[in-house]
Amino acid sequence: TISGSPPAKAGDSTLALLRDPYGFIANTCRDLGGDLFETRILLHRTICMTGASAAELFYREDRLVRAGAMPARIRKTLLGDGGVQHLDGHAHRHRKRMFMTLMGSERIAELRRISLGLLDVYARQWERTGAVILYDEVREILTRAVCTWAGVPLPETDVRIRTAQLTALFQDAGAVGWSHWRARRSRRLAERWATGIIEQVRGGDLKPPEECALHVIATWRDPDGEMLSPQIAAVELLNVLRPTVAVSVFIVQAAHAMHRYPDWARKLKEDDRVLEPFVQEVRRFYPFFPAVAARVHQGFSWRGYRFEEGRRVLLDLHGTNTDPRSWTAPHDFRPERFQDWHGDPYTFIPQGGGRHGTNHRCPGEWIAISQMEAFCGYLATSLDYDVPEQNTALDPKELPPLPADRVVLSNVRRSA
Ligand code: HEM
Repeated sequence: TISGSPPAKAGDSTLALLRDPYGFIANTCRDLGGDLFETRILLHRTICMTGASAAELFYREDRLVRAGAMPARIRKTLLGDGGVQHLDGHAHRHRKRMFMTLMGSERIAELRRISLGLLDVYARQWERTGAVILYDEVREILTRAVCTWAGVPLPETDVRIRTAQLTALFQDAGAVGWSHWRARRSRRLAERWATGIIEQVRGGDLKPPEECALHVIATWRDPDGEMLSPQIAAVELLNVLRPTVAVSVFIVQAAHAMHRYPDWARKLKEDDRVLEPFVQEVRRFYPFFPAVAARVHQGFSWRGYRFEEGRRVLLDLHGTNTDPRSWTAPHDFRPERFQDWHGDPYTFIPQGGGRHGTNHRCPGEWIAISQMEAFCGYLATSLDYDVPEQNTALDPKELPPLPADRVVLSNVRRSA
């Protein structure tokens, strides 16, 4: 069969994507009538795709690879260079195992225990303060928690600065202008810090417990038997610290949902079996990462469309999570849809799709779910609070979109 180019959206679409990062791909696909189209993003010819079938294609490693797929502005901020995200094939699988060994249920429960302990300490302070900004508090709690859990020393005087640096990596990466440069600076400073810690472990000055992320990463050997260079080990350590703090975004979005859908807040109080479907629906409904990027390995055809070798490909995450072909009433908040959901690797992809062990799907998915459940459970059952007058609007141009005032709570009382 003869195959043609994907439908084209003429010109450079970078601005259109920045203006509507969560809707641009799905809306354009709908206008052009299909799952994909080709345009230019940051001047590169790029195929943009949405939906479950596209996701299935996207995770076929024989077709799409990651090396060289990520734009420099993302490598210099969010991800760094030399980490697992940029590897393919055997090298990727091997490195991925390093992350998967950190995700045992015991370890995840330990992170949850540490986080809940800190949350309770913070909540005692909140009882004495007029009002607190939940997002700021949760980021600080999670920075402390993940450093403790990972075996990374965090002197009290550094808590503020490390929280700010780790936040800048995920919150300012997609921004343009000043914020973007702040993210680049934070990447340099955070990598310098993490490199120093890796070197302390290797030099014997720091002895984290064996099961801790710091120990695992500092002693990990690539397939050639060599340890990771200190710089790459630092990038991988930050690949654990940064996203664990980023779960604060989901937690604040969940608090926003509890405020906006008080019926669900009440159900959460009454029945802890509601926690899981509730947090799953938060992960589906609220946008976080707009898209993931890959490159065509060798040219191929798919459904009559030609994918030329080297072409960049973007998979729309939020559009897939809200695709009307996979979800009924996709723009309604309905946790009950997850009550007896059997899982699907391609329709629900807030943290990527496919398989965790072999594809690039996020290894931190269980941490995100467990941490969200812990914080939502605590907010619902162990705290009473008011949500004073404030701006709760989410700005869909912000990456990731947060309620404008970051969820302010007042009159906080621990109910236990
Ligand atoms: C990959 C989202 C939490 C570690 C990814 C990907 C996404 C994502 C979209 C890319 C998937 C792909 O390329 O196909 C998120 C979100 C999180 C989160 C929204 C919530 C805050 C975490 C946590 C960790 C983590 C808690 C670790 C503790 C990673 C790593 C990768 C990754 C190491 C790269 C995996 C690979 O390339 O094989 N995440 N993540 N993430 N995530 Fe997460």
